[in-house]
Amino acid sequence: MKKIVVLASGEGSNFSAIVNNGIKVERVITNNPNANVIKRAKEAGVGSLLVKPDGTETREEYDFKIDYGIYHDIDLIVLAGWMRILSPWFCEKWKGKIINIHPSLLPKYKGLNTHERVIKNKEKFSGCTVHLVNNKLDSGKIILQKRIKILKKDNEISLAKKILKIEHQLYPRAIVKILSSR
Ligand code: GRF
Repeated sequence: MKKIVVLASGEGSNFSAIVNNGIKVERVITNNPNANVIKRAKEAGVGSLLVKPDGTETREEYDFKIDYGIYHDIDLIVLAGWMRILSPWFCEKWKGKIINIHPSLLPKYKGLNTHERVIKNKEKFSGCTVHLVNNKLDSGKIILQKRIKILKKDNEISLAKKILKIEHQLYPRAIVKILSSR
């Protein structure tokens, strides 16, 4: 059985989609004491670990604490709404074993406020992308991508809703794909 850890900072709907698709999660790690993912993990019977930034440590130091919370024999680290940039040493240590989901058709619209920018630019399509994590923001090798058409009536809120829905299908598929290829 492959072992995965989920890092999440917020709602945790992708975490739920992963466990609801029968993928076993060893542990959820969060940086946010108010993250709803903590509640979701409890309901799913998955242990969660809160690693609260103390406000004085560097990014590198904080990531040592995260690393400490990850079992040494973990097969995959899944970022699901993880709102912190990981330090280079952490990405290097876990190279090929960290994945992320981003709500755009990468390499387009890296970073935050994707839906807002997509709507503003009158794009015809958007979607979501699961990719390997490297040192550069939203830039690692693409594992799976799903595209949807943007309707005239769509705004950033309706688009966000539609894309989150397809994320919930794509992420579990991507995890199964990557784990079964190893
Ligand atoms: C998703 O839109 C994901 O693409 C982005 O953060 C959001 C997380 O949502 N990286 P949730 O916490 O899984 O509900």
